[in-house]
Amino acid sequence: MRAAEDSSTHRLHEVPPREAGADALPGGAVAPVDLMSLLAAGGLVPLRLGGRTLLPIVQGGMGVGVSAHRLAGSVAALDGVGTISSVDLRRLHPDLMERTSRLAPGKAATLAAKEAINAANLEALEREIRAARVLAGGRGLLAINVMRAVSEYGPSVKLALECGIDAVVVGAGLPLDLPDMAQDHPNALLVPILSDARGVQLLVRKWMRKNRLPDAIVLENPRLAGGHLGAAKVEELHDPRFEFENVIPQVLAFLREAGIEREIPLIAAGGIRSHADIARVQALGASAVQLGTPFVATHECDASDAYKRVLTQAREEDLVEFISGAGLPARAVATHWLKSYLKAEPKLQEVAHVKPRCTLAFDCLIQCGLRDGRPGWGQFCIDTQLAAAVRGDEKKGLFFRGVGALPFGDRIVSVRELMERLLTPQTSASAPPVEPA
Ligand SMILES: Cc1cc2nc3c(=O)[nH]c(=O)nc-3n(C[C@H](O)[C@H](O)[C@H](O)COP(=O)(O)O)c2cc1C
Repeated sequence: MRAAEDSSTHRLHEVPPREAGADALPGGAVAPVDLMSLLAAGGLVPLRLGGRTLLPIVQGGMGVGVSAHRLAGSVAALDGVGTISSVDLRRLHPDLMERTSRLAPGKAATLAAKEAINAANLEALEREIRAARVLAGGRGLLAINVMRAVSEYGPSVKLALECGIDAVVVGAGLPLDLPDMAQDHPNALLVPILSDARGVQLLVRKWMRKNRLPDAIVLENPRLAGGHLGAAKVEELHDPRFEFENVIPQVLAFLREAGIEREIPLIAAGGIRSHADIARVQALGASAVQLGTPFVATHECDASDAYKRVLTQAREEDLVEFISGAGLPARAVATHWLKSYLKAEPKLQEVAHVKPRCTLAFDCLIQCGLRDGRPGWGQFCIDTQLAAAVRGDEKKGLFFRGVGALPFGDRIVSVRELMERLLTPQTSASAPPVEPA
């Protein structure tokens, strides 16, 4: 496989020369603020994970191509947890796209096309992990996020573990088999994403039978988070059982009864936008927070400028919840394409039928509403729509987004500025004017 620094790897965007949060030194030099020192001053507690002391900030995995090496590596370099999303990463590598883009389905070579695309995605994943590691410089923690619902779940987890990834984070399905897959990598941290106490109990009990505990658990609130959501139906997204005030104490009570409360840090995800939000969930017993949407609005985010613009300019009323092609509820910005699709959805669902093959040849999902003709599921090719978003096609793309105004409104800032803001208590005088979401 080719090295991460290969010129074919997508180009690093320019990072602004002077980062916010820097103190003036004699002679005009600037020293960046040590973010760790902000923790105690702001009354927050560090995250202790895998024998390391980290900022209590996790950048959540975001596919397709939204969180790759540059975002994840930049977050880790500042002592946070940076997460690369494994899904269809070849799209960030022009040479890999060149190699695979003409492998259309409908030809005798469909199986070969699928194998070639999957191999390109694994090659891209390896490049991204290596490049993120270089950026992180040994600081923080680097994770890979793999959705349980994707076909390449097993090979992606295996490759990331072989590359020495620090942590594997799995959502969009119950990763009951993860301990078996990671058996030969006892130092790799295993982190499931769940949304309610029942799901945690089920998973922890099953893993305990395999003599393994999660190293941390992400509790993602489907009422607030962006992307695929951990509820069975759209109508359930607002169920009180998902609220941090309910789920965190319930999970802690279960872990206490099982005698493992102190061993498993809880990470609250969804709608976290400020220091006050972090302080609130830490007071409830969470150890850290995971953010997605605010990290998209950074220079270092691997998505296109158009992607960042769509997310930062969306208001609360622009967000829509629907069932995706993966059969899960999802939250995204109502772009031109999504509005048209949702209008046509009842008719498309009426004529849903099993297709002879996947639109894009590589069967990205284990179960796909479009290919498998499942009438209650999304009738569109999710990879096609997410790829359009990554290309910056504002009209055709599917742009996932969580609820809530962003810390810097519609401004794109550096990862350092964002993390510094999150770690600093805001008085009404110091808070910037932010438009309500
Ligand atoms: C653009 C976008 C893409 C996402 N993709 C994934 C993904 O591929 N896998 C996953 O587990 N979570 C995904 N998420 C969820 C995030 O990792 C994170 O948990 C969530 O966004 C937190 O909510 P917030 O956006 O309100 O901060 C995505 C979120 C966004 C906004």
